[in-house]
Amino acid sequence: MKWYLLWVLSLWSVALIDLSRSEDVFEELIAEEIFPSYLDEEAVSPGANSLMVPLTLIPGAVSKGAVCLDGTPPGYHFHRGFGSGANSWVIHLEGGGWCNTIRSCVFRKTTRRGSSKFMEKQLNFTGILSNKPEENPGFYNWNRVRVRYCDGASFAGEGYDEANQLYFRGQRIWSAAMEELMSKGMRNANQALLSGCSAGGLASILHCDEFKGLFPGTTKAKCLSDAGLFLDATNVAGGHTLRDMFEGVVTLQGVQKNLPSSCTSQKDPTLCFFPQNLVSNIKTPMFLLNAAYDAWQVDQSLIPSIADPHGLWHDCKVDRLRCNTSQIKFFQDFRNQMLSAVEVFSQSNQNGLFINSCFAHCQSELQPTWYENDSPRVGNKAVAVAITDWFFDRTAVKAIDCPYPCDKTCHDLVLK
Ligand SMILES: *[C@@H]1O[C@H](CO)[C@@H](O)[C@H](O)[C@H]1NC(C)=O
Ligand SMILES: *[C@@H]1O[C@H](CO)[C@@H](O)[C@H](O)[C@H]1NC(C)=O
Repeated sequence: MKWYLLWVLSLWSVALIDLSRSEDVFEELIAEEIFPSYLDEEAVSPGANSLMVPLTLIPGAVSKGAVCLDGTPPGYHFHRGFGSGANSWVIHLEGGGWCNTIRSCVFRKTTRRGSSKFMEKQLNFTGILSNKPEENPGFYNWNRVRVRYCDGASFAGEGYDEANQLYFRGQRIWSAAMEELMSKGMRNANQALLSGCSAGGLASILHCDEFKGLFPGTTKAKCLSDAGLFLDATNVAGGHTLRDMFEGVVTLQGVQKNLPSSCTSQKDPTLCFFPQNLVSNIKTPMFLLNAAYDAWQVDQSLIPSIADPHGLWHDCKVDRLRCNTSQIKFFQDFRNQMLSAVEVFSQSNQNGLFINSCFAHCQSELQPTWYENDSPRVGNKAVAVAITDWFFDRTAVKAIDCPYPCDKTCHDLVLK
């Protein structure tokens, strides 16, 4: 449990969306960002079971202008596939919030989410990146890659702010990473899965058809978005926290030109950064894995502290058993919005769904939520099994859980 908590605290901090402009909170977040406590813990006890994979900076990326916010080269971690997986690839795009203002982007430059200077030199490959069949039955022997996230706009920005020396080059990082991996053998892939979690899950949605387009038609290419289903929802005070924040990201980082024209020809570009306005138009087979009560969205979009200045929601937010009936109804409404956002998407046979009634966020990256004896299930299927069945076309997977509190298999994140 401790591990989840530390992990989530670290995740939350990088998801800083400039909601609170208070200096104290900002300084606290800076400290948390630079000294992420969960990493200290990992460094102290590298278990025998660990697969530590080194960071590679992308050669030639800088000359293409494909750089992190601070101008340093982007990077990735790559573990080569073997046996029957030697020509199969899973590419996982890292997440970690966004930056939507000059200030939050300038801050981000001093962190691993905005500069390769601060990235961990190696990462533990677990969950969907594990190389052990008992941990990752579908993809353990594939080529497995984690692409680092250092642009702050879900790999989709294009621009430069000279006054603050901020490079908004997410789209170029995406392209440079794909070129690099093609040269490492991905061009011979007969199977490929583009995955990603949180802001990386949104990136997987944004880049899914481009990914498929890298390969000949004979390659089986699909996409997975884990915790990327960010909804244009109303917070507990009636505001649109996420829409306001996405507007900053899209405008500041020049994202509009990289969004699908099928959406931008009809809607405001900010709305075209929301998966609900994109997923039904994706041509490539796609799987949406998301907790119905996504913990990040509950914390940062539905009940951000700015929308709950008197802390009326605090007890309910940290402990569901203390929610009253109207608060539970608020969460159920959110779940209903999520289900209606994927309704058309779900009608396509090639698409898959796993919407479990948990308060979680990112269930493919960590072993306990991906595939373990007591990992989350819908209809007795673990996340890893559902996604594997879908990828290999074994069965249709449209796993939609009954509403809270029926699911006893959740690994809920603990909010502050
Ligand atoms: C790496 O992940 C595995 C599987 O979750 C875990 O058993 C191991 O302790 C982790 N190692 C580190 C260094 O965190
Ligand atoms: C539930 O709690 C909220 C926040 O404290 C309050 O505004 C609301 O009136 C309560 N609803 C019920 C039905 O008690």
